[in-house]
Amino acid sequence: MKIGILTSGGDCPGLNAVIRGFAKYVFNNIKDAELIGITEGYLGLIEKEARKMQPSDFSGILNVGGTILGTKRTPFKKMTEEDQNGRSRLDLMKKNYKALGLDVLVTLGGAGTHKTAALLSSEGLNVVGIPKTIDNDIWGTDVTFGFHSAVDIATECIDRIHTTAASHGRTMLIELMGNKVGWLTLYAGVAGGADIILIPEIPYNPDTVVKMVKRRLDSGKAFNIIAIAEGAMSKAEAKMKKTERLEYRGGRATGTEMLAKYIEENAEVETRVVVPGHLQRGGAPSPYDRFLSTEMGSFAGELVKRGNFGVTVAMRDNHVTYNKLSDIAGKTKSVPENDQRVAMARAIGIYFGDEA
Ligand code: F6P
Repeated sequence: MKIGILTSGGDCPGLNAVIRGFAKYVFNNIKDAELIGITEGYLGLIEKEARKMQPSDFSGILNVGGTILGTKRTPFKKMTEEDQNGRSRLDLMKKNYKALGLDVLVTLGGAGTHKTAALLSSEGLNVVGIPKTIDNDIWGTDVTFGFHSAVDIATECIDRIHTTAASHGRTMLIELMGNKVGWLTLYAGVAGGADIILIPEIPYNPDTVVKMVKRRLDSGKAFNIIAIAEGAMSKAEAKMKKTERLEYRGGRATGTEMLAKYIEENAEVETRVVVPGHLQRGGAPSPYDRFLSTEMGSFAGELVKRGNFGVTVAMRDNHVTYNKLSDIAGKTKSVPENDQRVAMARAIGIYFGDEA
């Protein structure tokens, strides 16, 4: 059996651990298995950049960040368009799948990767996905690998900001990744003891944020920690189109700087913005993610062995399982309005900026 494997989209801790878990399962359980590593995601399939991999390639990578296969973002929209030479990218991927003699393609990636995986599956290719992303926004799985490592890193950032915020009596805004959802900020915010958590799913009122900052200062606390998601927006911004929002923010992709300035002027406190950025995606996976990645990778191997294609691995209620690619592609798992974790955070006095 000839199995192609690729990693696509933004990287995250755990990709190598999944690749290793998958390879180990395959070499131990599928007779005559051959693994073909496709480089730089779908671009490698489009360009037929691939190499045969040996069991030794998967040694010593469990705790190594990044991906040994390399990755690229190839937006889904582009998949159905022609490349600069007038060739259909979709046709090239189908042609190269055949030319490489693949029996199945295993794709590790986030939401966009899954959309392309579903497209390839609908075009007749055998595909098995594995859900990766620090954003934790893939539909149908309780958790994605990479998420908890990012939570650990983001939490450590908040911990470190705490001490400097306290020393200076400042209001610190820590802008965390997560794309259009607030999972990472919610988890790291709670774990890091943030006073205010702002996420895209709960648009905030800047005046409410100012009020909450002042309230804490009036109660004798000298500093404030605000965990703000990169996708967070005020109630006014939430009504705007993306381009209008960009203009309103003076060309900035996020509203964090604007909010910091607003708080500084209206609560009369010193503010600072900290953006950990890609630090949240770098370095070794946490032990939790090493385990989860190994479990997901190994289970993907089992799906391949069973010939269960057109699916992606998922974790539900602590059980590793799968979803049909066609059921989850194009959907986003956001923080629900009535999420019990949000309710818990509110109950212990964390503000979300929408309070009356
Ligand atoms: O999807 C993962 C993610 O890290 C998002 O949280 C973030 O918005 C985006 O990727 C950043 O992408 P890039 O690495 O292309 O700058």
